[in-house]
Amino acid sequence: MIKDPRARIVGKESWRDYFLMRLESPRIADRSRPGQFIMVRINAHHHPLLRRPFSIHSKNGKTIEIFFQVAGLGTDLLSQKNTDETLDILGPLGNGFKAEAELKGKAVALVGGGRGIAPLYFLAQELRSSGAASRIFYGGKTRADLPLRENLEKQGFDISCSTDDGSFGFKGFVSDLLKAELKKFTPARIFACGPEPMMKKISGTARQKSIPAEFSLESVMGCGFGACWGCVKRIKRGDGEELVKICEEGPVFPAEEIVWEEEEG
Ligand SMILES: Cc1cc2nc3c(=O)[nH]c(=O)nc-3n(C[C@H](O)[C@H](O)[C@H](O)COP(=O)(O)OP(=O)(O)OC[C@H]3O[C@@H](n4cnc5c(N)ncnc54)[C@H](O)[C@@H]3O)c2cc1C
Ligand code: FES
Repeated sequence: MIKDPRARIVGKESWRDYFLMRLESPRIADRSRPGQFIMVRINAHHHPLLRRPFSIHSKNGKTIEIFFQVAGLGTDLLSQKNTDETLDILGPLGNGFKAEAELKGKAVALVGGGRGIAPLYFLAQELRSSGAASRIFYGGKTRADLPLRENLEKQGFDISCSTDDGSFGFKGFVSDLLKAELKKFTPARIFACGPEPMMKKISGTARQKSIPAEFSLESVMGCGFGACWGCVKRIKRGDGEELVKICEEGPVFPAEEIVWEEEEG
């Protein structure tokens, strides 16, 4: 873990309540892997006190990007930062997706719901460079919740979209779009990030079809590196379950280890 107290904002784009920020942080960029995250101190005045976690959306040379949606005070304040300001960040943190060499030459499915697309762009880039063919499924409530669609298309990714209200692409949940498409192709692995009900449905579909799947879980995080126990979730280990720190052992877990909400006793 590297602490970079002066990561400079070198680029910023916005769409409604979604923001893409490019940060110059050479040492963190150098070590970042898809599915890992950074913890961002929002401002120097300790309000909000706790750093906020963001997936690494991409890396390019000395820079990393984060892509976020305004959810409350911290993300609202972050969205108001401008180019040339600096941020105090920690990273790269956690364990990412397993984009192994064994996926070379195979088709894989990447499923992002809303801001859950954030870590999947980095993953799609890595999979492409290792020779896997990614199909990206990108879902949102409405067309404005798909701000990265054009960029992903421009980069030549095979992308299918869904909106809950039918304003763009398949009408319905992205989990249902994936289910329909799985009648036509069988990916070697499914990677997903998004709201828990979406991931739970995808996990069920993957299990029915015997497709290995990995999910990036969210939890409220106080520190991001194992010190506060704020992020624990129950995870299947051996024949039982254990309370596991998502920040250290995750945030990415294989489907078979995840205890989805209604399963909790
Ligand atoms: C590993 C990880 C990676 C993430 N990556 C992204 C990303 O790439 N893009 C993105 O838009 N969001 C991401 N999130 C969620 C993001 O961290 C929260 O939206 C953000 O912390 C909310 O802060 P806030 O002060 O704006 O909201 P608050 O006013 O604090 O709360 C608003 C909502 O956000 C939830 N929340 C608050 N603090 C946290 C926290 N520390 N962790 C998780 N949820 C929290 C609250 O339960 C509440 O529902 C990620 C979360 C985790 C755990
Ligand atoms: S966020 Fe502190 S232990 Fe995980």
